[in-house]
Amino acid sequence: MSVASAPGKIILFGEHAVVYGRPAIAVPVTQVHADVEVTESSHPGIWIHAPNVDLDSELNTLPSDHPLAAVIHNLFFSLGIPPHPLPSLNGRGSKGEGFDITINSSIPVASGLGSGAAVSVALVRALSSALGRPLSDDQVNAFAYEIERLHHGTPSGIDNTVITYASPVYFIKGHPIETLKVGRPFTLVIGDTGISAPTKQSVGDVRRLWTKNNLRMEQVFDEIAQISLMARRIIECGQPEMLGELMDQNHAFLQEMTVSSSELDSLVRAARTAGALGAKMSGGGRGGNMIALVSPEMAEPVSRSLLAAGAKRTIVTQVA
Ligand code: PMV
Repeated sequence: MSVASAPGKIILFGEHAVVYGRPAIAVPVTQVHADVEVTESSHPGIWIHAPNVDLDSELNTLPSDHPLAAVIHNLFFSLGIPPHPLPSLNGRGSKGEGFDITINSSIPVASGLGSGAAVSVALVRALSSALGRPLSDDQVNAFAYEIERLHHGTPSGIDNTVITYASPVYFIKGHPIETLKVGRPFTLVIGDTGISAPTKQSVGDVRRLWTKNNLRMEQVFDEIAQISLMARRIIECGQPEMLGELMDQNHAFLQEMTVSSSELDSLVRAARTAGALGAKMSGGGRGGNMIALVSPEMAEPVSRSLLAAGAKRTIVTQVA
């Protein structure tokens, strides 16, 4: 048997601008995770059991562009292992048996918490280990990025990176991975609008805006780059309460990019009114999640206010 787990993630600063080469900061959210278990079975074929998405199917009955099937087919291909006949797990036992792959995830789908990337990372780790060919973090990350590309077109790669390394990252597309040292832990409340919004669409809308009004959008991205840079110093120096104002500023730029929504804006307002030090939407936008920076004792009241303002759920997480 082989098991692997990968956390959710949240983008603290720099979403969308990161697609245009500016820095962004993302942190893992360990309260939610994707878990994958691969076991050898006596029945033939590769069976995928994913109760969250109501899936109980043999691999070859799924369309080849199915997200889970794509990960598995691509992994077999990259490892140079033909799926027929099936190799034995960990290189032991006789050939030709089946696999059961069980996938459970507590990460809400299409809400900016990285559910797709987390499933890819956990699945690649569990399956490659089961096949006796465990991959390094760098290989897992590169693989998960290719899968993100299949689904999102032009992803920056921030999701797969923060999730693979399960550590806060300062991310610039195409640059070597920089993990962040957190000088002093801080607390975030994540509020879910409950609206699932495809990242591909908001990324496409920002691109249209950038094409139409290139000068202004480049200025906006540069301002956001400054925010991410300052945030990095603040996080490393251990003065996290100073992040609040930067979150407010970043949110205003995301509004200008048209990727916020009335629901996100009202949760952001509710968090600030309830005593958060700052708040912003997070991720692709239009729906999904917002985040609020709070002192530890304010986590509960801010969380209650978010629920009262329409959040479908909240998660309190510590960045450490
Ligand atoms: O997948 P989400 O919703 O966390 O958003 C990804 C962040 C974007 O900057 C909007 C897109 C990207 O590829 O970086």
